Amino acid sequence: MTESANRMFRLQQAGGIDQLKMTEESIPEIGRNEVLVRVKATSLNYRDLALVEGNYPGRLNDNTVQLSDGAGEIIEAGPDVRRFKVGDRVAGNFTREWFSGKRMPEYIEPYGSHSDGWLMDYKAIHPEELVKLPDHLTYEQGAALPCAAVTAWNALKGPSPLEPGDTVLTLGTGGVSVFTVQFAKALGIQVISTTSSSWKEEKLSDIGADQIINYNETPEWGNKVKELVPGGVNRVVEVVGSATFPQSIQSVAPGDEIALIGVLSKTGENIDYYDLFGKASTRTIMVGSRDMFEAMNKAITAYNLSPIIDTVYPFEQAQEAYHHLKKPEFLWKNSYFP
Ligand SMILES: NC(=O)c1ccc[n+]([C@@H]2O[C@H](COP(=O)([O-])OP(=O)(O)OC[C@H]3O[C@@H](n4cnc5c(N)ncnc54)[C@H](OP(=O)(O)O)[C@@H]3O)[C@@H](O)[C@H]2O)c1
Repeated sequence: MTESANRMFRLQQAGGIDQLKMTEESIPEIGRNEVLVRVKATSLNYRDLALVEGNYPGRLNDNTVQLSDGAGEIIEAGPDVRRFKVGDRVAGNFTREWFSGKRMPEYIEPYGSHSDGWLMDYKAIHPEELVKLPDHLTYEQGAALPCAAVTAWNALKGPSPLEPGDTVLTLGTGGVSVFTVQFAKALGIQVISTTSSSWKEEKLSDIGADQIINYNETPEWGNKVKELVPGGVNRVVEVVGSATFPQSIQSVAPGDEIALIGVLSKTGENIDYYDLFGKASTRTIMVGSRDMFEAMNKAITAYNLSPIIDTVYPFEQAQEAYHHLKKPEFLWKNSYFP
């Protein structure tokens, strides 16, 4: 170990990006069944900004180390650890002790809100809460996986997995949507995407989206989707929420699924029971289990996929990285090195 201090950013309390304070604490001692991870990269999601700005709907403990997503190298392992060894490259599982099967909410104490997250130099952690990184990914790319990528994988390959030849609809160009496009194309699934502007249409086309609809030019895009895919798409990956839900219902084929994921919008039309009855089913997603994370990593390796990173910031500039998320030119994922 070369450093003696453990830098970290704690969120004193919700109220703005300037509430994030860098502190130096000691490097933690590990227990017999823990590992010490030298964190090499962390990654931001919409949730992290919502936590800092006081827009997170759940609990937030004061003075919590921020960020759910991180990747690094194991530099020390307790004598009872079998799952990993020193030198292994790992990422944290967003849902921590949800390993497989049905989600058990009582097991999950999410990072950044309930428990200390990954925006630190050294993290002591139980090895069961980690997954191995695909060998071909950099640490920045690996740090982009735990929240957005696992959510996208769950949306496509959860209890009713899509098959080659099916069609998925994605909304916008944020982290979850872009991973969905990447996975879908690798798996032979057709993609229709919406976005807000022509330069983003080009970016979506570059990563393989088959059909793109500008939702500012075509606000009733549900009809357009039905023109492109008579009968409707097999899945909508709904990351926006109440503002887009009525159009999502229009877009999906009866008997297929809208995966409910996002809360980017706060208002929208009220939905009547009969807007849904006899149409698609809905499934609420909470990221995904460790089994899903590992299955996704196998696919990432098999198809040689790489997360697309927007901008990398040095550790000390964490606050700038948060500001970057709010810029109109922000695309894909955002991550930075400690
Ligand atoms: N339930 C879960 O497990 C889970 C997991 C991950 C994320 N989430 C949630 O999913 C949402 C997306 O997360 P993210 O990290 O992917 O977000 P993000 O990276 O911040 O994505 C934001 C993008 O969404 C698009 N967008 C914003 N408002 C829109 C609107 N009214 N209509 C259509 N598109 C709109 C914009 O792209 P364009 O300009 O291209 O339209 C924007 O760039 C968030 O609410 C997040 O909390 C939930």
